[in-house]
Amino acid sequence: MKNIDAITNLYARKELNFLGGQARFDREHENKRILLSFANSIQERDIVTYDHSRRVGTYAQRLARYVGWSRRDARDLALAALVHDLGKTWIANDILLKADTLSDEERKTMERHPLIGARILIGCDVHPFYVETVLYHHEAWDGRGYPSGLKGEEIPLSARILTVADVYDVLTSQRPYKAALSKDAARERLLSGSGTSFDPMIVRAFLNLLDSEPQFTLPQRICAIPAVAKPAYHAASSARV
Ligand SMILES: [Fe+2]
Repeated sequence: MKNIDAITNLYARKELNFLGGQARFDREHENKRILLSFANSIQERDIVTYDHSRRVGTYAQRLARYVGWSRRDARDLALAALVHDLGKTWIANDILLKADTLSDEERKTMERHPLIGARILIGCDVHPFYVETVLYHHEAWDGRGYPSGLKGEEIPLSARILTVADVYDVLTSQRPYKAALSKDAARERLLSGSGTSFDPMIVRAFLNLLDSEPQFTLPQRICAIPAVAKPAYHAASSARV
């Protein structure tokens, strides 16, 4: 894993060069275009992952705002969340959609998805913020996560926020291999992972947010982030449904 870390570090240093005015605007616009285009590709490949990613984006954005991020930074995190599982689009269906428990070999294949997603994004020259967030969204606070085994604050804050939002949505969603947990049961699972899987400060903030907003949990297939605009041919063909 050291290679990918070296790549993103180098990339981050390159990005530190100041971009001002129009150049910065153009760069942000290009990032957004690329990320939304990847979100479209996830939607075409796997609607469950796409819907999950949209809900995670909403949760992560609200959580980021709650812990004091600017509107703009929180929006960038929502964009990263939309493509956090981009690497899964390259995992075979017999693993991706398997209803039974994954074998060790299959689990290892599945655990490559943050790295695959990050490599795709690096290839498109998007800002390192998005690359890091995607790459590290399965790291754990105690260092037992993957792909790099980063620990505590070594893990970028964006990824620590995304992890909590991601896990909450997985817990409260139905999947081929599991039933959906209630909000209270999911709350307990997050609490039990605080300090081991998750940053305790982020868990505390998330639970406060959950408690203060009774309608916080989004229904399946509905989400606050607007749907990614479809190309014209898609809109026309969908009229047959
Ligand atoms: Fe993931």
